Amino acid sequence: MTRLKLAFRTILVPLFFVYFFLHIGFTTWKLFQVDNTRIGYENLKDGPLLAKGGKHLKKGKNVIEAIGYGKLSALGFGGIRGQKKRKPKVVQPVMVPKDEGVPEIAENVKMKVLFEAENLLNQTSKSSNFIYVAMINNAYERMTLNWICNTASMDNVHNRTLIVSMDPSTCTSIRSQWDETIKCVSLEINNYKNGYDWGKQQYINILTLRANLMELLTKNDIPYVLIETDATWFKDPLLLFLNRTNSEEDYDIVVPVKGYDGGSWDTLAFDPMLISPTNGSKMFMEEMKTRLNGDKKLYDQDIMNQLCASQHNGLICRQFSYNEIADGKWYKMDERDREIPFILNNNFNSGTKNKETRQALNGFWFLASKTNQCVISKVNRFMEKYGKS
Ligand SMILES: *[C@@H]1O[C@H](CO)[C@@H](O)[C@H](O)[C@H]1NC(C)=O
Ligand SMILES: *[C@@H]1O[C@H](CO)[C@@H](O)[C@H](O)[C@H]1NC(C)=O
Ligand SMILES: *[C@@H]1O[C@H](CO)[C@@H](O)[C@H](O)[C@H]1NC(C)=O
Ligand SMILES: *[C@@H]1O[C@H](CO)[C@@H](O)[C@H](O)[C@H]1NC(C)=O
Repeated sequence: MTRLKLAFRTILVPLFFVYFFLHIGFTTWKLFQVDNTRIGYENLKDGPLLAKGGKHLKKGKNVIEAIGYGKLSALGFGGIRGQKKRKPKVVQPVMVPKDEGVPEIAENVKMKVLFEAENLLNQTSKSSNFIYVAMINNAYERMTLNWICNTASMDNVHNRTLIVSMDPSTCTSIRSQWDETIKCVSLEINNYKNGYDWGKQQYINILTLRANLMELLTKNDIPYVLIETDATWFKDPLLLFLNRTNSEEDYDIVVPVKGYDGGSWDTLAFDPMLISPTNGSKMFMEEMKTRLNGDKKLYDQDIMNQLCASQHNGLICRQFSYNEIADGKWYKMDERDREIPFILNNNFNSGTKNKETRQALNGFWFLASKTNQCVISKVNRFMEKYGKS
């Protein structure tokens, strides 16, 4: 008995303390390694196209709390009270993945993007002089194929659309189904290829990259509409945009209003954004680019709202009405109260899987389940139901 006690005192107790302090030390150290850690990464496997939906983003499951909070949120800090704390699904060694920084677009790639944009623009008529531009990543391939299918029977969409993919394989995949009927150029950025490698900083980096791309187009006098391919298009929006481009009323950018009130200044959604390459929008793009590149935590949408609200350097931001362009709130509205918009954004949830599921449940998914081929009969049924209104 006493020998056991002695052994306990001389060996186990010190061992326990050593373990105890090491554990505390390690846990504390991990807690402060916030930036490079991600949680439940499949929920973050999302393109740059995910709108940051203000406070509503924090409700329910599959939210992107992890973005902007890191590991602390998984431990309950900054999370939702009452909700069961979710365990991190994958705990990475804290030093990986490293923040790769905002990817650079090579000069020759910039030239290629501008060439394709101008080429498309040259085919439009003077009275409808703008193109559609979407920037996607590999994780958005299926979503994008679905949108291409969604809009396949609209006369004026594909032939004025430029899809800018971060990596070449997504373009290859789009081309294998659509040839050159819809343009796709790659930014040749391969270290951002894997959807599963997404963490919060990479996500924000993508938004910054997209802002850099937008600035490039605007500076080079390309009038365009920035679109996102997780949206559902009910009607060909050509007339909607023409109404604005041919209007007497001047504008630098036109963006949708949010369905949920984001507060006094946070009222505008980021896209679809109609951009006229004016002095005002060029200054806006330059300012947004500079601020995003200078602060790794900033979101494009917040900067836009601030600059629009303060009419920065005379910036003129106009709005699409909610009946024209709706957002995630629309899904929750009573069918009798809601109008069929031209474009419905699929925001206030995150993760491509959740977005796909929501679209499928509402009849807005048009791909064959195994092959991802466009099923045109599904599109026709959809257009018959909605497209005529
Ligand atoms: C577009 O048209 C302009 C003016 O006609 C021309 O200078 C330019 O080379 C064209 N660009 C492309 C890419 O076709
Ligand atoms: C796109 O196709 C439609 C239908 O064929 C045509 O009317 C329109 O002029 C084309 N637009 C461009 C920009 O090529
Ligand atoms: C443009 O839209 C506004 C309201 O959305 C409408 O009052 C106006 O008549 C439209 N203009 C044209 C030229 O269609
Ligand atoms: C835009 O800026 C240029 C150069 O700064 C200037 O020459 C031009 O007059 C401006 N245009 C408008 C419409 O303000």
